[in-house]
Amino acid sequence: MSTTLLDSRDVRDARGADSWTPELARRRRGSGDSSRRRPARALTQPGCGAGTSQTSHTPVLADELIELLDPRPGQIAIDCTFGDGGHARLLAERLGPSGTLVAIDRDPLAEQRFATLAAEAACSVRFIRSSYAEALELLDGEGLRADMVYFDLGMSSMQVDTRERGFSYSYDAPLDMRMDPAQELTALEIVAEWEERRLAHALRDFGEERHANAIAGAIVRRRGQAPIQTTLELVDTIKSAIPAPARFAGGHPAKRSFQALRIAVNDELGQLDRALPLAWDLLREGGVLAAISFHSLEDRRVKHFLVERARGCVCPPQLPVCACGREPQAALLNRRSITPSAVEIAGNPRAASARLRAARKLTDEDVAS
Ligand SMILES: C[S@@+](CC[C@H](N)C(=O)[O-])C[C@H]1O[C@@H](n2cnc3c(N)ncnc32)[C@H](O)[C@@H]1O
Repeated sequence: MSTTLLDSRDVRDARGADSWTPELARRRRGSGDSSRRRPARALTQPGCGAGTSQTSHTPVLADELIELLDPRPGQIAIDCTFGDGGHARLLAERLGPSGTLVAIDRDPLAEQRFATLAAEAACSVRFIRSSYAEALELLDGEGLRADMVYFDLGMSSMQVDTRERGFSYSYDAPLDMRMDPAQELTALEIVAEWEERRLAHALRDFGEERHANAIAGAIVRRRGQAPIQTTLELVDTIKSAIPAPARFAGGHPAKRSFQALRIAVNDELGQLDRALPLAWDLLREGGVLAAISFHSLEDRRVKHFLVERARGCVCPPQLPVCACGREPQAALLNRRSITPSAVEIAGNPRAASARLRAARKLTDEDVAS
């Protein structure tokens, strides 16, 4: 895990000397010891967030997320999935010089993008390059408490569009799909080594693929003849296993299998299951937990987690008085998930399947009233 502590002055000063490079910024960063953080300097111009950077990932449901998180000057925010920093930039503007943004991502590309944000952000910023479950454990161990923690799950456009990383079924590339390139498990290993039953389970459980058994069988037969090494070889194999009518209905025939492999490679559901309770514990009373999901496997987990925390007494209705003593810990900020508008989807088709849910951690006064 690499953790970086910066205030915006570190990077701005280096840039002022006209010699700023990501490498220089890295050398100037702290080691993760919060005592090394200096307070951020206020910028004199209005709108002091990091709004001028070139980005290639359009943040999804950004207005809706900001409205639910309601960031205020001086607050502490944790962005568990920094990516290109689209949401983080909007937050940074509102947290201001006395606020802190902690950004987490397991992808080194996100760390590079973070350097741009750090150069411009008004608030104190810190980057932790690791899986978010591990990073949240680290922050909990440090005793940090945050006013908001949020997740924007799945892949960034930078990841999908970097062909050689093998996330996309549209380009030929080595089978990789790792968000953290230092991780050992790749899609190549899964396709080459997992036994047929395990492959079928993964395709069904993580891709909700109806033809999971047939696809797993086709993979095992094909790799018996020659290794499947690239995304397009895998796409061919998947297509060969799906009956013709299904191949032309419901999107690209490899979409679900690629989702399944990506989730398996990156242990995405395991990460989310570990991270949600950690994120909740890190929240101060009155703080907000929010998550944007892109498929039902994630959204169900987020929904279940938040609804459970919002539930009070669980005694059978026939009991005249409550015997369980259970109090709700959360207030749901939206009963139904929030989805992107038609206008947002028209401008950014990748937003189409997004679902946003959020809840506020109740204060003692909320519970007593
Ligand atoms: C959809 S993108 C986030 C985009 C970002 N909100 C923005 O506006 O630019 C998801 C990011 O989360 C990261 N990610 C996914 N799962 C992760 C995990 N378990 N731990 C750390 N980062 C993760 C990915 O590497 C990717 O950069």
